[in-house]
Amino acid sequence: MIGAAPALHGIAAGAYTFAMLRIGPFQTDCRVLLAPIAGYTDLAFRLTCRAAGHSGLTYTELLHSRGILEQNRDSLEIARVSADDEPYGVQLYGNDADWFCQAAQWAQSQGATLIDINMGCPVDKVTKTNGGSMLLCDPDRTTRMAERIVRSVSIPVTAKLRLGWSACEITAPRLARQLEEIGIQLITIHGRTTAQRFKGTASLDGIAEVVAAVRQIPVIGNGDVDSSAAAARMIEHTKCAGVMVARAAIKRPWVLREIHELLTTGQAPAEPTVLEKARLIRLHFELMRRYRGDRLAMIVMRGRIAAYGTSLGHVKPFKERIRLMNGANDFHAAMDELERRVDPAWTMVPHWAFVEHLGARQPDEVADPEAVMTT
Ligand SMILES: Cc1cc2nc3c(=O)[nH]c(=O)nc-3n(C[C@H](O)[C@H](O)[C@H](O)COP(=O)(O)O)c2cc1C
Repeated sequence: MIGAAPALHGIAAGAYTFAMLRIGPFQTDCRVLLAPIAGYTDLAFRLTCRAAGHSGLTYTELLHSRGILEQNRDSLEIARVSADDEPYGVQLYGNDADWFCQAAQWAQSQGATLIDINMGCPVDKVTKTNGGSMLLCDPDRTTRMAERIVRSVSIPVTAKLRLGWSACEITAPRLARQLEEIGIQLITIHGRTTAQRFKGTASLDGIAEVVAAVRQIPVIGNGDVDSSAAAARMIEHTKCAGVMVARAAIKRPWVLREIHELLTTGQAPAEPTVLEKARLIRLHFELMRRYRGDRLAMIVMRGRIAAYGTSLGHVKPFKERIRLMNGANDFHAAMDELERRVDPAWTMVPHWAFVEHLGARQPDEVADPEAVMTT
């Protein structure tokens, strides 16, 4: 899928070649992690990222530990796994050590590579139950609870934090240090506070403080990594052991591989062609049909096409067709048309590709292609 491309500015070949990323007994050569993203990182999407070349860790979206124990249908759907999606972590949230431990044991029995404890979710539904980023507010209690979880399973346990509840309550460095002492094997730090939600930019200095606070476990930087250049910048500035990517992967699942390639070879790979991107979108849709059924696949893809569209260029009529589709046949007909209209070498669709009256003519045959731009 990916051809050679020039080295990125300022990044020499192999400059970021690292030793293996070690998470307890588990190790991987990939220092790029797909983030847990509620409503997005189901099995179909995680497998789509694998098909786009991702070889590192993926995470389920956050799962309530009690939901798992009660075998709640939605929770079990979120927890659906496959041998084709390894290595993967199951992310749990909650506030009750007993539930956490039992849910962690269940995830271990399902084959999870590791368990991640959510200590960063700012959403009211989660913090009202004293879970998510509320765990940042009482580091000592959180550490005691994490210790019980660590002792309840034999696979590694990791934690995902924000910097603290607010700018005047930065608890992540202290909490990270304490978590390392009780056996947490990796920390992911999103460089924002809970109060910030997604506003402003992720603080690289804040991430660097967490990196400096722990003795030897890896710290993964997270927040606003949307390209291999942004990943290299974060690693250079914070000395973090790797990066976790969320929002950018929803738009461009191949960004995970792109970053991995840059870090290991010093070369950013070429952008996939529109045809390669289209194949991936089709695969994602078919995987959703397989795991979630036709109706849900259609509803989800109607929404997700906007994110995919950002990497396709001028495809407004195509996106409209997907948004208005009434079933799998409509979806594939729209994909067929997109594929018919594009040149195999294109990485983005030019503005004139969907102009009906251009027919088979090439752009240079049109006196002023700009004048007929409709998208
Ligand atoms: C829609 C959405 C859902 C998210 N769900 C989770 C989640 O389930 N668990 C979690 O730890 N973080 C969750 N996050 C936070 C991301 O994992 C990540 O920390 C954050 O988006 C910053 O990374 P980014 O700049 O690469 O997007 C979510 C973020 C978004 C936008």
